[in-house]
Amino acid sequence: MRFGIVGCGGMGRVHATTIASLAGRAEVTATVSSRFASARELAREYGATAFPSLEAVLAADVVDAVVVCTPSGRHADAAVAALCAGKHVMIEKPLEASSVAAARVRAAARHSGATATVVSQHRFDPASVAVKRAIDTGRLGRITSGLASVALWRPQEYYDSAVWRRSGVADGGGVLMNQAIHQIDLVVWLMGRPATVSADTATLAHEAIDVEDAAAATIRFDNGALATVHATTAAYPGTSTRVHVHGTRGSAIIERDRLAYLHAAPEAHALPGEGPLARNQAAEVLPDGGDPGSNIVALARQYVDFLDAIDTGRPPVVTLAEAGRTLAVVEAFYDSARTGRPVHVGDSGGMMIRLAEQNPQGAGPSTASAAGAEPGSASSGCAQ
Ligand SMILES: NC(=O)c1ccc[n+]([C@@H]2O[C@H](COP(=O)([O-])OP(=O)(O)OC[C@H]3O[C@@H](n4cnc5c(N)ncnc54)[C@H](O)[C@@H]3O)[C@@H](O)[C@H]2O)c1
Repeated sequence: MRFGIVGCGGMGRVHATTIASLAGRAEVTATVSSRFASARELAREYGATAFPSLEAVLAADVVDAVVVCTPSGRHADAAVAALCAGKHVMIEKPLEASSVAAARVRAAARHSGATATVVSQHRFDPASVAVKRAIDTGRLGRITSGLASVALWRPQEYYDSAVWRRSGVADGGGVLMNQAIHQIDLVVWLMGRPATVSADTATLAHEAIDVEDAAAATIRFDNGALATVHATTAAYPGTSTRVHVHGTRGSAIIERDRLAYLHAAPEAHALPGEGPLARNQAAEVLPDGGDPGSNIVALARQYVDFLDAIDTGRPPVVTLAEAGRTLAVVEAFYDSARTGRPVHVGDSGGMMIRLAEQNPQGAGPSTASAAGAEPGSASSGCAQ
């Protein structure tokens, strides 16, 4: 599979290295970046050709798939252009910075029939896969509660290094959209369909940024389960990322992408109280906790899924619909933090979006979106 990389900054480079690690199945043939020098440099390192624009790449017909590594609020334009040209696309997380832009990508994907996925590499970590299996096979019982906790430290220079990292939700948001989205995506993937969210956000440890560096939030799921989200880039020196899922027959804890704890009651076993019987079974499932390996190794697992999906015609593990659901939850967090009220999320046109408040006549929630448009109804944006 010949890949073109759009956006040759930090993640563009990680993708180039990952693609190169899959030699025989994948290669980088084209690079594009708003700074041509970065595209040229990456192309030189990986034996590809640097192009002045994505349009030039598509016209030259030198790629089968496009990887979108531009700033988060610039994903849709590149993804739509690639999909309309019949190319498969892998989009860096988040799918976009708004559901309205994300809907354009979904419409173009429907129009093109090509395979599209969004990076959520931690879904492929051995620990995440083990917990998902435990939940799907009922080993944890009824899921009751969960936690996504992301306690990181980003120095001021991180925000100063690129405008999009500090300039607001439309460009990619703060810690919820940019860092914690990995763990939010895991919790939503593991726990079910989100229904209502609440959030509070703050900017506490960084200057001249229009995004939050701390957030406390909750998610209520359709199945009644509750999750807490704690996210910050203001936790010096940066301690851990954690995902907990608890149920009536078991619990799982992923810490720093490894399985730190798993306990599932034996089948048909009367539940004892807490105590020695609730021993940690993690090592029986994953002897080393499921070391996810380097960034490259972790991302390569998602590439293998993407390539297999293209080869077999099955959907990728991370579909646009699922990435859109995670985006809708984060957007709803921002709405809730701004208004001080809970925000509903639900389906519109086959896509999960945040919904306006329950109307007082009891007719149910009405749709809302960043631009007042109906995200589910976007046209493909492809020339007919
Ligand atoms: N999956 C992960 O773990 C992970 C980690 C970091 C970043 N990301 C995501 O990757 C994306 C890029 O992040 P980054 O840290 O590499 O950012 P970055 O600022 O280092 O790089 C972005 C690059 O895109 C280029 N660019 C900007 N607008 C463009 C356009 N319209 N067309 C072509 N090129 C353009 C810039 O010149 C820059 O080289 C973001 O969406 C971010 O959320 C994902």
